Order: sequence, then C-alpha cells, then structure tokens
Amino acid sequence: MEFRRRLAQGVGVVAVAGAAGGVLSYGAVRDRERHTARCSDRGYPPRPPFYPFWFKWMLHGHDIPSVRRGFEVYQKVCANCHSMVELSFRHLINEVYPEKRVKQIAAQYDVFDGPNQEGEIFVRPGIWTDSFPRPYPNDDAARYANGGALPPDLSGIVAGMHGNADYIFSLLTGYRDPPEGMPMNPGQYYNTYTEGGIIAMPPPLSDGIIEYEDGTPATVSQMAKDVAQFLTWATEPATDERKLIGIKAASAAFIGGLFSYTYCRMIYIQYRTRRIDFVKPVFT
Ligand code: HEC
Repeated sequence: MEFRRRLAQGVGVVAVAGAAGGVLSYGAVRDRERHTARCSDRGYPPRPPFYPFWFKWMLHGHDIPSVRRGFEVYQKVCANCHSMVELSFRHLINEVYPEKRVKQIAAQYDVFDGPNQEGEIFVRPGIWTDSFPRPYPNDDAARYANGGALPPDLSGIVAGMHGNADYIFSLLTGYRDPPEGMPMNPGQYYNTYTEGGIIAMPPPLSDGIIEYEDGTPATVSQMAKDVAQFLTWATEPATDERKLIGIKAASAAFIGGLFSYTYCRMIYIQYRTRRIDFVKPVFT
C-alpha cells in the first residue's frame, strides 16, 4: 500500500513538473517571437515584429470596425491591382455591413453577365451574390499592366505569408529609400521586409489617400493596420465562430470531466475501502 502511494505521488510530481516545464518553454518561444526587430537578429529579410492585433488572443474576435475600414482601403486602393476571387459581396452581410449597405456597394460595380436570350454577354449592376470584381480579365493582362509582376490574389494571402497579418502591416509600412549604391531598375521599389529588399509593387499607401466613412484619420499606419485586419478576416471569416465553439467545447469537456471523475470515485469507493478477510470456517 505504502509503495503504491509513493509511486502515485512520484508520478503526480513528474506530471506537474512536466506541465510547468511545457508552459514555461512555450512562453519562452512566444517571447522570442514577440520581440520587436533587433540589430542582432539573424536572417534576412528581417522577421516582422509582433504586433498586438486584437484577434490574436484566444478570447478575442475580429475588430469589426477596423475590418470595415480595411474593406474601404481594399476597395479604393488594393482592388485596382489585386483580385479576391474567393470572396463575394454576400460574405460581408451581417459580418461587416448590414444587408442593405452590401447591396448598395455591390450595385456600384458593373458586372458582365450572360448570355441572354439573344446569346449576348451584357453588363448589369452587381448584386450581392456576385464575387468581388477582378481588376484584370486574366493573369497576362495583370502582368502586362504591372511591368511583368503578377499581383497575387488576396483572398488567402494572410495564411500564405510568413508572419501573417504582421507581415502585411510591415510590408505596407516598410517602403524606404534604397541604401546608397544599391542599383534599382525602373519598376522596382525598396522595401525592408522583402527578399533582397526589392518588390515590384509601388508603395500603395500615402497619408490621406482615401477618406474613411467613419472619419478616422487615414494615415499610412492606420490604413495598413485596417487592411491587415480585413485581409485576416477575409482569409478566415469563420474564426470568431470557431473560437466560440472551441470555448464551449472546452468548458463542456471540463464540466463533463469533473462529473465523470466524481462518479468514478463514487462507484469505486466501495471497492477500494472494502475489506475481505479470509478466515477459516469454524465448524462446531
Ligand atoms: C499598382 C498596383 C498595386 C496596388 C495598388 C497594390 N498592389 Fe500589392 N502587389 C502589386 C504587384 C505588382 C505585386 C507583386 C510584387 C512582386 O512580385 O514583386 C504585389 C504584391 C503584393 C503582396 C505580396 C508581397 C510578397 O511578399 O510577395 C501583398 C501582400 C500585397 N501586394 C498587398 C497589397 C495591399 C494590401 C494593397 C492595398 C493597400 C496593394 N497590395 C496594392 C501591385 C499592387
């Protein structure tokens, strides 16, 4: 009995120590990821720093006012070159804008449809089931208009980039004058966060380039933050729901665990405390 108790205690101590070690080392890794860029950083191009975006925490959802402003930035700036083929106007309904407003926004665009009864392709105002319009009819036209570089589709860009939303923010705010002596061809721009420091996208943002509907001052960093939030939402519109389901499932599992532990103890207590004596029958 004594030995078994010792063994159980030992296993308990090891388990607690293991869990504490795991938490601490995870924290250390997170800390390393979180620090801002330092001169001693190895690797090139520099890793984007950790920005405290609201959605990064387990209990936080998307910051919808910011997503809405980000959509304005996308619509007025990025959509001139970048497509978002996987998004339709209907995705915005009740997530970003109310239904009426989405219909108004969709109606601002001209969409090719058809063929009609006469077999012809015609143009009509957009409706809420249409996907976001593409700026160019095909990839070759996009390359031709951008000096040979293809602007990537932005529907899933946040998941596709190392650094995710942090990278988008860093990229949009990372344009600088090239260092002395660095040869730059026409159509190339210097950006600290890209491979080789060169990118074919001209700096898309400048202070006051758009006017926000809610009157927020449109500085470069504000627009970069908002569009990073919007692109994150666009990559995974269901994150909020998923987090909510996760929290519900975890709490249900916790409560269920408590119940089954108690029930188990209740049932087994009679066996554990049972005492069986083998005594010789006494015949009289
Ligand atoms: C004038 C056209 C133009 C506009 C406007 C524009 N882009 Fe781009 N973008 C490009 C091109 C061209 C590339 C491809 C660059 C390359 O391959 O070097 C690109 C690449 C990118 C990339 C990928 C970068 C990488 O590391 O590969 C991201 C992200 C991006 N753009 C986001 C945006 C966002 C967000 C906006 C709006 C604020 C925007 N772009 C506006 C033309 C544009």
